[in-house]
Amino acid sequence: MTRATYKEEGRRPDLQLRDLLVDLASSDCDFVVIGSSALAIQGWDVAPTDLDLMTCSTEIDPIKRWLGIHEDDTPWVQDGEASRLECTTDRGPVDLYLEVSGDLTYDQVARDAIAVVLGSSALSVRVGSLDHVRDMRAAVGRDAMPAGAVAPAAKQGAPKVVAIDGPAGAGKSTVTRAVARRIGFTYLDTGAMYRSVTLAVLERRADTDDANAIARIASGVDIGFRDDRVFLGDRDVTGAIRAADVTEVTPHIAAYPEVRTAMVERQRQLFTEGSFVAEGRDTGTVVAPDAPLKIYLTASPEERARRRSLETGEPLQRVLGALEERDRLDSGRRLSALKVAEDAVVLDTTGRSIETVVDEIVGLAHERGIV
Ligand code: DC
Repeated sequence: MTRATYKEEGRRPDLQLRDLLVDLASSDCDFVVIGSSALAIQGWDVAPTDLDLMTCSTEIDPIKRWLGIHEDDTPWVQDGEASRLECTTDRGPVDLYLEVSGDLTYDQVARDAIAVVLGSSALSVRVGSLDHVRDMRAAVGRDAMPAGAVAPAAKQGAPKVVAIDGPAGAGKSTVTRAVARRIGFTYLDTGAMYRSVTLAVLERRADTDDANAIARIASGVDIGFRDDRVFLGDRDVTGAIRAADVTEVTPHIAAYPEVRTAMVERQRQLFTEGSFVAEGRDTGTVVAPDAPLKIYLTASPEERARRRSLETGEPLQRVLGALEERDRLDSGRRLSALKVAEDAVVLDTTGRSIETVVDEIVGLAHERGIV
């Protein structure tokens, strides 16, 4: 498998592809890949012809020189909305894409790229997220995934993640806990992490509109899980994070990019340490895009409100209003919005018993060889 490495220098919105290439040229790596080849970096086995490099016209010459490309006899072809040059290089075949339209500029990819830690914690790669990969491939008229790509989690021995995402009140907590127990994986409640950050923010009386203060708190909090309890440092906050004010403020705090980056990093770290059934909003789309089983659990708003109202004793109409507001915030935020992963199995739990839903998910886990 081809690997690329890049020394982590923190998030660099100004990062230029040329700088990255020059850096890579002098480091111990095979090549730099942006685009579908990000999959290779993320641990997918992809055919070498799937190596794409996306750039803009001002960067093209140094990149071609660096790759040793002499394009005299190779014409650029119009491919969807981009120009593409299929090159043979001594690093293998590389497709160069120029001026991919829309938001898919290199800057955009660099800005929103996810750092993925590889093997040693000292090294990481900077690649577009799986969503970028899909968007970019779609922009140039290609399938979402390279043909024959094999998810790393499907390989034997790797820790596995079953991702269970969906809106509030769909039954995620009960179902996720039960599935984890049945298949012997660890249960992870990612919502509890965002709630814990919010609790810390409220307790410190930080200004919830002060992005810097929120970022500092999110990167400093020590969130732990032991015996189904949630801890902030040494303090058991399992009950406190369910308080009404925490529930109300959490969607706002969870929308800060710095908060998401800190939580996603922590979740990915946990996922390297064992096999999990994780519930959340973006587990299958952002945190673990290569999870071998993704479930999107949903139910009608009325059913979800009815369940919450039975649980908390609050009037149904009030619960329904609050739930629709949270759905709106969770689905509308710019980063990691609640959405169905392309390869998720959608399960509507309206009118279904917990047992039948759990049975179905456990059945899928067996079918896919996860357990
Ligand atoms: O699942 P929950 O109700 O405990 O989630 C609390 C809030 O945190 C909810 O507003 C959505 C947000 N959240 C999130 O943004 N990303 C996650 N992975 C999990 C929860």
